[in-house]
Amino acid sequence: MALKLSVIGTGYLGATHAACMASLGFDVIGFDTEASKIELLSKGKVPFYEPGLEELLSEQIKSGRLTFTNNVADLADADVHFICVGTPQIKNGNAADLTYVNSALEAIAKLVKPGGLVVGKSTVPVGTATKLRNRLLELNPKADLAWNPEFLREGFAVEDTLRPNRLVVGVVNDSAEQILKEVYATNLKDKTPWVRADLPTAELVKVAANSFLATKISFINAMAEICEAAGGDVTVLAKAIGYDPRIGSRFLQAGIGFGGGCLPKDIRAFMARAEELGASQAVEFLKEIDAINLRARQRVIELVRKDLSDDLQGKKVAILGAAFKPDSDDVRDSPALDIAAQIQAAGAVVTVHDPKAIANAQKRFPALNFADDVNATLKDAEIVLHLTEWKIYQEIDPVKVKSIVKNPIVIDGRNALDRHLWQSAGWKFRALGRSNNE
Ligand code: UGA
Repeated sequence: MALKLSVIGTGYLGATHAACMASLGFDVIGFDTEASKIELLSKGKVPFYEPGLEELLSEQIKSGRLTFTNNVADLADADVHFICVGTPQIKNGNAADLTYVNSALEAIAKLVKPGGLVVGKSTVPVGTATKLRNRLLELNPKADLAWNPEFLREGFAVEDTLRPNRLVVGVVNDSAEQILKEVYATNLKDKTPWVRADLPTAELVKVAANSFLATKISFINAMAEICEAAGGDVTVLAKAIGYDPRIGSRFLQAGIGFGGGCLPKDIRAFMARAEELGASQAVEFLKEIDAINLRARQRVIELVRKDLSDDLQGKKVAILGAAFKPDSDDVRDSPALDIAAQIQAAGAVVTVHDPKAIANAQKRFPALNFADDVNATLKDAEIVLHLTEWKIYQEIDPVKVKSIVKNPIVIDGRNALDRHLWQSAGWKFRALGRSNNE
């Protein structure tokens, strides 16, 4: 008999995991404390934008394998319970807020069947899984807990969940690994690398991976600063070093840096945890990674001032992009939206466009102007900022839009527009890490 699974927390991670596991043939029940979320999901609607997810979710609901509830007692039938709740940054510090993880465990502990397994997928500070496991055994000695970090990217969540590039399982007992091998049988058949680890290593793999990715991005953004000072071109530099397979070309896109609900808070939580462990020096460099990342936003604002004036009062600024990256409506710690808000706070009249993220951006910064049409956004703009590299922005015809703006000046904050095309159309083209003389 196929295992029955429960998924606790139905955000990006949980909703995707639930739908994907159902598509592999498991009976899955998703749980969330937020009634409105459950209502939407039960109707096959996803409360955020993630390509392909809504189709998969509604298909699985129709198949009868996937259901949602806000009554935790309904999870009692499951053999394996995945904890997929959020671990946001605490309000007054760098550490992760473990409230949701802890309450998920408390809610589920006594419901776990004898021999049943709780599997943590949330990103947590190292040491959390052992604490949670001890607490689980205290409440329910016949249950066990494993840690199975998730590496999905927003925008590719379904693909990354169905075909991960590796599976990492932190376990104490062989029986827990065996259960997880049953859950991931399809991936194992496809030869997905399987890494068995102890609990702390499994937790660390996740933060180490995100710290490495953040470091790669900040490295290239540091090189962008040097290129600006020395008259070089960071896009060419990135291409050239990327051919070395030891370096690799991915995550070397220089620009306004990383944002989102993961990389920024994960490196901060890692620093906070390392300090608690008395090992803060080992990850001291992450402070610099964070600082380089935030500096990129200031460099864009400096470019705006250079072209318009130090005083931005009343200047009309058009911003293309609000999401933290394309193919997402997520604006958590979005560099684009942060720049928009800062320029507006300096007195400019800012209009923001985004194909998917306007509703979320509006909730966060209601005082910004939003337009759902690119031309309306550009109208009479004194400068245009390209801050999230949605494909539609790369398809803008610079010749056509030149007559709409007041000044044909564009800042490419993502190094994703065709500079030659824009310059030939008569635009002043600015970018991070490239010569801005023309
Ligand atoms: C990240 C990781 O890539 C996932 O593996 C991980 O599972 C996830 O966090 C998580 O912890 O849940 P995600 O936040 O979806 O995924 O976004 P990324 O694709 O990693 O991009 C992060 C940020 O870096 C974006 O703002 C993006 O614009 C920026 N970025 C990325 C660059 O500035 N340059 C690059 O070359 C690549």
